[in-house]
Amino acid sequence: MFDASAMTTVDTRAVHAGREDLAGLGVHVPPIDLSTTNPLPSVGDGGDAYEALATGGTLPPGGSAVYQRLWNPTVARFETALAELEGTAEAVAFASGMAALTATLLAATRDGKRHIVAVRPLYGGTDHVLATGLLGTEVTWARPDQVADAVRPDTALVVVETPANPTLDLVDIAALAAAAGDVPLLVDNTVATPVVQQPARHGAALVLHSATKSIGGHGDVLAGVVACGAEWATRLRQVRAVTGAILHPLGAYLLHRGLQTLPLRVRAQQAGAEKLAAWLAEHPAVERVHHPSVSDPAGLVGRQMSGTGNLLAFEVRGGAPAAAAVAGACELITHAVSLGGVDTLIQHPASLTHRPVEDDAKPCGALLRLSVGLEDPEDLRADLERALATI
Ligand SMILES: Cc1ncc(COP(=O)(O)O)c(C=O)c1O
Repeated sequence: MFDASAMTTVDTRAVHAGREDLAGLGVHVPPIDLSTTNPLPSVGDGGDAYEALATGGTLPPGGSAVYQRLWNPTVARFETALAELEGTAEAVAFASGMAALTATLLAATRDGKRHIVAVRPLYGGTDHVLATGLLGTEVTWARPDQVADAVRPDTALVVVETPANPTLDLVDIAALAAAAGDVPLLVDNTVATPVVQQPARHGAALVLHSATKSIGGHGDVLAGVVACGAEWATRLRQVRAVTGAILHPLGAYLLHRGLQTLPLRVRAQQAGAEKLAAWLAEHPAVERVHHPSVSDPAGLVGRQMSGTGNLLAFEVRGGAPAAAAVAGACELITHAVSLGGVDTLIQHPASLTHRPVEDDAKPCGALLRLSVGLEDPEDLRADLERALATI
């Protein structure tokens, strides 16, 4: 049996990770196990397996998985593969990115610690959960250089997104991990993907993805995943088992398949995003472009990131009405939320993905977010040119 984790490049690992045992099983693609319940060898063995899985353990060889909410082999395969790409010991997959974040907050806020330090901007849903304290947390918003001072004895977690959705702000992960000290750092790596950045290598304890985005890559799976060490994984699986947030095995199969083309997709989309960012930056109707290829003040591309990613944003002259007109005038580009798929999407964050964000932290009304797909960038440019001409 070969060891995919020993392979050096993300390209090779993406193709082979989580497939090490397939030849031994006599198959070429992973089997899908849809069982919601599993035969029990005996009451004693079944009970022991239940106890182990419900408290966050993994399936012992030859053991019964008991019940899908506790453990599923197809989900576990995807988790193994994703952990290999992120360079972590384990990963735990959930029914959505928000389910992954919820489980992380529940797992982190124990022993009387319920304070979170969070760096804005964050995805609107993440911002909303933290700002409302819906899960019993208390948040302090901090700039990266304020994090060390914001951390308290009861701080459970530091939360950051880099590049951030929607403004593509970049944060130095190693510096932030140092500022967090003993407090674990959660990095939402959805926008970068493990192709461009692997936060655990820079000191993040937890790496979260909305796998709905580039990892799935085709707009047909809702999922989340957290890559982390063994102790966190045990805690997260326990919360997942108890709260019922496990990913469906069909989704896990599609995500695992999606990983095989993730490096190719992300790099091709990134090449398109860089072309469009450069073109938009010169356009008279555009005030400002946000993309790591245009703005990287701390020099993180090449150091923390191996590329610039497939997501960009731009501010149009004329404010929110002009932005709304451009989003509505696109024809080839679909006016829709989400990102990281094979087709290009445009949306107005202040009205949609970041609608719940408090006014003083909301993205500006002139901002449009563009998730660049795999179309010919010239066709995308022509569509944007036409849409921008309407304002
Ligand atoms: C950066 C980021 N994190 C988390 C989420 C939440 O993920 P999901 O929609 O899969 O619940 C999103 C969704 O857009 C996101 O963009």
